[in-house]
Amino acid sequence: MSSEQLFKPFSLKSLNIKNRIVMAPMTRSFSPNGVPTDDVAAYYSRRAAGQVGLILSEGTVIDRPSSSNDANVPHFYGEESLAGWKKVIDGVHAHGGSMGPQIWHMGVMANHHSGWTPSVPFEGPSEYNNPNLKNGRAMNEADIADSIQAYARAAADAKRLGFDCVELHGAHGYLIDQFFWDGTNNRTDRYGGKTLAERTRFAVDVIKEVRKQVGEDFTIILRLSQFKPSEYNFKLAKTPEEMESWLLPLSEAGVDIFHCSQRRFWEPEFEGSDLNFAGWAKKITGKATITVGSVGLTGEFLAAFAGESSQPSSLDELLRRFDRGDFDLVGVGRPLLADPHWVEKIKENRSEELVGFSKEALGVLL
Ligand SMILES: Cc1cc2nc3c(=O)[nH]c(=O)nc-3n(C[C@H](O)[C@H](O)[C@H](O)COP(=O)(O)O)c2cc1C
Repeated sequence: MSSEQLFKPFSLKSLNIKNRIVMAPMTRSFSPNGVPTDDVAAYYSRRAAGQVGLILSEGTVIDRPSSSNDANVPHFYGEESLAGWKKVIDGVHAHGGSMGPQIWHMGVMANHHSGWTPSVPFEGPSEYNNPNLKNGRAMNEADIADSIQAYARAAADAKRLGFDCVELHGAHGYLIDQFFWDGTNNRTDRYGGKTLAERTRFAVDVIKEVRKQVGEDFTIILRLSQFKPSEYNFKLAKTPEEMESWLLPLSEAGVDIFHCSQRRFWEPEFEGSDLNFAGWAKKITGKATITVGSVGLTGEFLAAFAGESSQPSSLDELLRRFDRGDFDLVGVGRPLLADPHWVEKIKENRSEELVGFSKEALGVLL
């Protein structure tokens, strides 16, 4: 089956990309003391040279003392780190690519296996990372206000450095998602509440402030997931109506593109329809969406962390949904981590050259 429909350009505000393929954000932990190195810049440049439409960076953390649990995750603040990021985006542009950083605050975390810890306790809506893990402290109003400013400063810096867009990490059980989930948000102030709509306020305030600081024309992507790393089958929104109450305020606050993270893109979100998360997000908000999750691979990413290998698989089901208009863009993670030439191989139908994914790829910057 031809995949030519994925090779049509896409434009939205500041974002102008040559095809529909998005490199999904993937933490690499190759930035000592939070500073992206020349090797990191070269790694992203190879994806631009390899015809990736839009590169989303690995999660890069905001200026809060405990926004990270890993000394080798890049910062998106401070002169040295931002100078590193400037080299990244200049390299990507020199190779004809487009890129946005994924702006991240991890919230309350488990301690990293390296033994490194931040100078102050982890912070989140409560002390909990999930109902079974308490490892931080609940943020007060001043912490929340400062975090909102730190997200917005990072987004403004992304624009100033010349990035094409910005993505806010609101998925996978990290800070923004900890506010969404009643398993981690037990607050009784205006950032808590019994309904998902009430617990969406923190994200809404972050997006509004980001929008204020980057202006109307800079593209804002928000990444969301229904699942939690601690509960794969969990759904924040249990019905289409609940999803509406979650996504519409975010859309109105200024999100341009919803990046809908699933482990397997073909899994329907609700009974009675085969629409996936990106399909529902587009239907509800009318905004552009990115689908992601095991595109072109046999196995999903959380099993990959436990060492499971995946083989290349057909794109037919993806293309069927794309042609139906369920989503605008397609996120690809592990295939692009393992192979900077994945896009060219797909475009030129060189499927016999696809390499799949095995965990050895995690340890190097190919
Ligand atoms: C090594 C690795 C690191 C990841 N780091 C991040 C991250 O920093 N931020 C994020 O939102 N998702 C992260 N993810 C999830 C990916 O963005 C993507 O959603 C997931 O791998 C599914 O896509 P795939 O099946 O094409 O790999 C990571 C995945 C992998 C494999």
